[in-house]
Amino acid sequence: MSIDQAKEAAALAALAEVRSGMKLGLGTGSTVYWLLLHLGRALASGTLEKVAGVPTSIDTERRCREFGIPLLELADHPVLDLAIDGADEINPRLDLIKGLGGALLREKMVATAAQRFLVIADESKLVGRLGEKAPLPVEVVRFAADSHLPFLRSAGANPTLRLEKGGFGPFVTDNSAVIWDCRFERGIPDPLALGSSLDARPGILDHGLFLGLADVAYVATPLGVRVLRRPDC
Ligand code: A5P
Repeated sequence: MSIDQAKEAAALAALAEVRSGMKLGLGTGSTVYWLLLHLGRALASGTLEKVAGVPTSIDTERRCREFGIPLLELADHPVLDLAIDGADEINPRLDLIKGLGGALLREKMVATAAQRFLVIADESKLVGRLGEKAPLPVEVVRFAADSHLPFLRSAGANPTLRLEKGGFGPFVTDNSAVIWDCRFERGIPDPLALGSSLDARPGILDHGLFLGLADVAYVATPLGVRVLRRPDC
C-alpha cells in the first residue's frame, strides 16, 4: 500500500461517520485532501446531502470550493457535529502533535468546537512519546518573536524559525504570525506541563499539542484501517 493509498483509506473510514445534515470541521493537510475529495464526490452524487464545513485554513477553503463543499463560518456555527483532521504524531492516549502544515491555531479552535474529533493518518504517525519524531510548532506573534527563544530553550526545546519553501523568508501563517519549530532531543517528557506553560505565555498564539481532544483515530496500516480510541472514551 502506498502512502497515498493509506491516507485515502483512513479518510474514507472517517467519511463513513459523516451523515447528511452534519456541520463539520475540516482539517488541513495531505490526508484531509482525500477526505475533501471524497466528501465532494458524495455530495455531488447525492450519497450525502446538506453537509457543510468550517475550513481550518485558506488552503482547505480553496479545496472545498474546488470540490463543491459548502462552507460555514465558525462564528455563525460555534458547535460542530464532527471535526476530522490529520496529525503529525499520535501517542497511545491519542494526544497529538499537529501543525506541520501551519494551521494549528484554527485547527485547535475547530476541534474544540466539535462534539467529536476524528483523526486520520497513516501508521508512520504513531509514536510512543510526543516529540520523538516531529517538531512541536509554536505559533507566535511577529512582535519580538525572538524574545521567546530563552523561554523555549529553558523548556528543553531546540527552536528553529520555520521558513517559506525555498528558505527566503519566514513562513507566515494564515493568522499573520510565525512559527518556532521546537525539537526535543528525547521527546516531550510532560506534554501537559509544557502545554500549560506555552498557553500562559503572552505572545504565543498557540502550539501544536492537542491533548485530550481526539476521540478516535483512523490509522491506515498495510493490514487495514485500525480504529484507536482515547483510553477514557
Ligand atoms: C496542518 O497544520 C497539520 O496539523 C496537519 O493536520 C498535519 O500536518 C497532518 O498533515 P498530513 O496529513 O499532510 O500529514
